[in-house]
Amino acid sequence: MTYSCPHLYNPSCDSGKRSISTTVMNELFEEEIRFNLASRPNWEQGASHRNLITGYLTDLADSSRGRLCVLGAGNCNDLDLQKLSQVYSEIHLVDLDESALRYAVDFQSVSENPAICLHVLDLTGVGDMLAAYKSEHRQGEGDLRKIRDALSESPEWNLPGPFEVVCSTCILSQLILQVVHALGETHPQFEELMVAVREQHFRTVLDLIGKGGAGLIISDFVSSESAADLKDVPDFQFTQYLSQLLSSRNFFHGVHPGLLFAQLKGKAPLAKLVQDVEMLPPWRWDLGTRQYAVAALRFRRLTGDQG
Ligand SMILES: C[S@@+](CC[C@H](N)C(=O)[O-])C[C@H]1O[C@@H](n2cnc3c(N)ncnc32)[C@H](O)[C@@H]1O
Repeated sequence: MTYSCPHLYNPSCDSGKRSISTTVMNELFEEEIRFNLASRPNWEQGASHRNLITGYLTDLADSSRGRLCVLGAGNCNDLDLQKLSQVYSEIHLVDLDESALRYAVDFQSVSENPAICLHVLDLTGVGDMLAAYKSEHRQGEGDLRKIRDALSESPEWNLPGPFEVVCSTCILSQLILQVVHALGETHPQFEELMVAVREQHFRTVLDLIGKGGAGLIISDFVSSESAADLKDVPDFQFTQYLSQLLSSRNFFHGVHPGLLFAQLKGKAPLAKLVQDVEMLPPWRWDLGTRQYAVAALRFRRLTGDQG
């Protein structure tokens, strides 16, 4: 079976780039891969989550059939790749877990579609350093400085951007969880590194969007593990229920929806690059054994003339 894309895989047009680079495994990435394996059979339960995301992405595709890039695509249980390939000329799926991406295109019978491209990479670029810090029993403060410095730079992704639409799909909470696992949430520099990871991810999304293109940042922010009623609250009380959870500080580190919104509004450094920033109504993501509340930000990257 081959995975091909006219722009990346054809050696004559892009000889220096490889679509699938190997991601060196480490303890933190293995955890992600285990999670992906466990959540693979979730296609049916995830239908409403998938339909919603596929609908938002379909609406963002314009009539010229631009190119879509999805960060944290994993098993793609949240994307209808058949439908999306009717409205986008190319779909680029990015994740550190190659087996999840391969599973996704096989499961959705699009592995022979040359317009769907897989990219295996670590989107923070610091996963190995974080894992080393963890395995060295959290010594070496100089290493944390290096991680912090690396996060403040914009990595050069081997991705054929810019894209007309970029979607980050429930990856941000995982990126932050890697910091939790590496440092521990009580570490004095935990907050600083968590903020750095969040800022880097927003910058990555914006860097990958072409001027005038659109972004959709989706993030799970609390689960039924700490909010047992999440599954049963009636729809009409859902928003109010979430407000109560948020005000009692029951949400995942660093992904309070208000904080995500604030990354692109007011005096935030990235705010001057975007327009039409809106918070979409929150929804539930059913992952079988666990339910999540999900928030999403939709926005446009300003054109060169404006920003
Ligand atoms: C919660 S899952 C997303 C769900 C997925 N879209 C689905 O429906 O199957 C988060 C994804 O982010 C990926 N991920 C986590 N850390 C990453 C990193 N540093 N670089 C690239 N991908 C990462 C994981 O492998 C996982 O597939």
